Amino acid sequence: EKGGFDHFMIKEIHEQPQTIYDCLRGRLNAAEGTIKMGGVDNNIDKLLNANRIIVVACGTSWHAGLVAEYLFEELCRIPVEVEYASEFRYRNPVILTGDVIIAVSQSGETADTLVALENAKEQGAFIFGVVNAVGSSIARISHAGAYTHSGPEIGVASTKAFTGQLAVLTMMALKVAKAKGTISELRYVELIRELDAIPGKVAEILKDTTAIQKIAEKYKDASDFLYLGRGYNFPVALEGALKLKEISYIHAEGYPAAEMKHGPIALVDETLPVVFVATKDRFYEKIVSNVQEIKARRGQVICVATEGDTVIPGMSNDVVYVPDADEIVGAMLSVVPMQVLSYYIGTYRGIDVDKPRNLAKSVTVE
Ligand code: M6R
Repeated sequence: EKGGFDHFMIKEIHEQPQTIYDCLRGRLNAAEGTIKMGGVDNNIDKLLNANRIIVVACGTSWHAGLVAEYLFEELCRIPVEVEYASEFRYRNPVILTGDVIIAVSQSGETADTLVALENAKEQGAFIFGVVNAVGSSIARISHAGAYTHSGPEIGVASTKAFTGQLAVLTMMALKVAKAKGTISELRYVELIRELDAIPGKVAEILKDTTAIQKIAEKYKDASDFLYLGRGYNFPVALEGALKLKEISYIHAEGYPAAEMKHGPIALVDETLPVVFVATKDRFYEKIVSNVQEIKARRGQVICVATEGDTVIPGMSNDVVYVPDADEIVGAMLSVVPMQVLSYYIGTYRGIDVDKPRNLAKSVTVE
């Protein structure tokens, strides 16, 4: 049942080229330059006229929501809030007519997310579910939705569900942007091609993970990790830190790279591994200077860099490469080395990564 792998987590990580493909299949047509999604097509007015999108989720799904914030604001020019379901449901939030709620959930059974949606629905919000588990409570309570088609996720750590969520949210943002006219035809077609290329590029990352395994071996006894990224890679840094915490029991924090000077940089010394998501996007020059700041304080710099980069390797203790991609789709690539790194650190530390202590796959109590 684990398909020759030692754990579900690593099996599910390796399934991603296929699961992302399954998510895109039947929707994205790169040759024609079209995206079909029934849930979006049938409710396009709701999305086009949205004054605001509120993403409601927990954990890894909340990180996917943060990526969606960048996507929808940039491509569709719609203001987006990303809310932890547990906070949103209890703080008597302002919900206005014309608000669209995007609920993101792998299991579709997360109690806080479900109740937050019930409340918002009563107040007249339109609920769009981005859910993996077919027929789950969140799928049923939503007015419309799009399944991620990632297949059953058994490992407690969410991996393939996350990249499926990103694929769905990217297709949605592209469709809305196209319908709204906030994206040029040229850019739309270019991004469709970029998205279409993602499964192949994820396969490339996973073809040989020995470099990541070596890094895991080297840092497995660290007591703390810092994860830094900017733009679309900021949520990836948060996700990298969450994966490490749950799977290895090592304390880790994710931060926007520039925020580091406002506090966390005080932690840096020669014992601290700092993982940078330093791919070639519009923030590349900025992230290079953030790497220098950590080097100057003797931190151990581990970078996820774009293949062919010649600057980052010279500045890092360790590097892992991902194929070049447009930053709009780049998180689906840069998160993969994070997943693999946590998996190996967890297993080298002897942890039951599929069932880490104190955690449940689906959190059905608040
Ligand atoms: O099923 P959901 O996506 O609603 O679950 C949300 C979180 O409980 C979940 O993502 C959790 O953070 C994972 N263990 C992360 O790997």
